[in-house]
Amino acid sequence: MAVRGPSSSSRPYQLIVFGASGFTGRFVVEEVARSSAEVPGGKLTWAIAGRSRDKLEKVLQEAAQQLDKLQVDRQEIGAEGKPELQSEVEIIVADVSEPDSLAAMCKLGLVILNCVGPYRFYGEPVVKACVENGAHCVDISGEPQYLESMQLSYGAAAADGGVYIVGSCGFDSIPADLGVIYTRDQFKGTLTAVESFLTASSGPEGSCIHDGTWQSAVYGVADSDKLRSLRKKFNHKPLPVVGAKIKRRSTLFYSNEIQQYTIPFMGSDPSVVKRTQRFLFEEHQQTPVQYGAYAGVGGISSVIKLLFAGFIFFLLVKFSFGRNLLIKFPEFFSCGYFSKAGPSRKQMEGSSFRFAFFGEGYSDGQDPSQGKPDAKIRTLVQGPEAGYVATPIAMVQAALTILTEPDALPKRGGVYTPGAAFAKTSLIKRLDQHGIHFSVL
Ligand SMILES: NC(=O)c1ccc[n+]([C@@H]2O[C@H](COP(=O)([O-])OP(=O)(O)OC[C@H]3O[C@@H](n4cnc5c(N)ncnc54)[C@H](OP(=O)(O)O)[C@@H]3O)[C@@H](O)[C@H]2O)c1
Repeated sequence: MAVRGPSSSSRPYQLIVFGASGFTGRFVVEEVARSSAEVPGGKLTWAIAGRSRDKLEKVLQEAAQQLDKLQVDRQEIGAEGKPELQSEVEIIVADVSEPDSLAAMCKLGLVILNCVGPYRFYGEPVVKACVENGAHCVDISGEPQYLESMQLSYGAAAADGGVYIVGSCGFDSIPADLGVIYTRDQFKGTLTAVESFLTASSGPEGSCIHDGTWQSAVYGVADSDKLRSLRKKFNHKPLPVVGAKIKRRSTLFYSNEIQQYTIPFMGSDPSVVKRTQRFLFEEHQQTPVQYGAYAGVGGISSVIKLLFAGFIFFLLVKFSFGRNLLIKFPEFFSCGYFSKAGPSRKQMEGSSFRFAFFGEGYSDGQDPSQGKPDAKIRTLVQGPEAGYVATPIAMVQAALTILTEPDALPKRGGVYTPGAAFAKTSLIKRLDQHGIHFSVL
């Protein structure tokens, strides 16, 4: 029988944001502060962690200023309560390259929110320290190789320790993974296949993605050959294909679904959704849903820009000299999609994402092993700017779900996808309440 993770009485902090001084970490800190009244008792105990105390102090100062602004807005609408960040939130110094510092951090917290990436370089020591010291962990990795190798290496130890390690709790891949689960739950019958189409929009100021994600993508693509050999080690039987087999689309096509040119989605969503569907099939005997993920790129001028950037990217990424160039000049080589400075707050305010899900299956009473699907469903997951608004919301709500709904999590600890960990929790409802909306069309 698995031990049920850490207990709140033995640890001073319910949440610890690790990597709080990073571009994303700073927004996660603000989101924790905004959500700190959402625990039973109304007062979350939390700390921030990273390798530089000076930087972390500045993070708290900046977050306090942002909350001050929020407070002005809240007063205007008659709401109360401003967290006193600098006096209430402790700072913990911990460095990925110093295992003792990670162990000490993990012993202090119930859930670690790990924002230190690229995860392929920095993620494993944090997972190891969490498992060995009984802290749950959520991260925002979009790197399948890291995510799957953590499952392989630490799944059993996490289960023995009653610890939940849940990767990809940001925009990669909560909207896609929970979007498929939501679509299945809304479907009247047996859902057998879903395609998702992502579109992102920005306001007049435009937008971009911070360098941290660019680095993760560069090294991830460079190393993608290793993923196949890693997957063999799981020794999985192929998932059964129930119903009509989902058709593979080409590398670039005009999508009538979203009325623009579209490519296969390059991030972690297909890997994460597939792992979730495997878990739900093997643990709960649910029909696996086949999944195809696509992303809209826009009109013909965007296609030309993307083809140019893609060609250079794939040419350079395989050589260490090329990778150094890509890492040094993200803005140039991504045609402005990524930048060292990251998006401004104004750019974030004007940005949003929209995931359209097109599902098909067999209505109640129909046998999915016979004939073609006879029913369709369309659902939508939409929300604010993906990387630094939606991601912190998703990550913080995932962490709060672990904290407050232990009985709805899988019975044993383990290394889980968001869908596997949270399928039976209220996470979709929580996200909906925080601006990431799920709906049936
Ligand atoms: N899922 C999503 O949609 C999503 C969205 C956003 C970001 N992300 C991912 O989140 C990760 C971070 O991205 P970012 O843009 O925030 O990157 P970033 O600004 O470079 O932040 C990296 C953080 O890691 C810390 N760090 C680096 N080495 C460390 C070490 N040895 N010990 C302790 N801390 C260390 C840095 O600390 P210092 O401040 O001291 O340098 C910094 O806080 C990336 O992997 C990115 O892909 C995912």
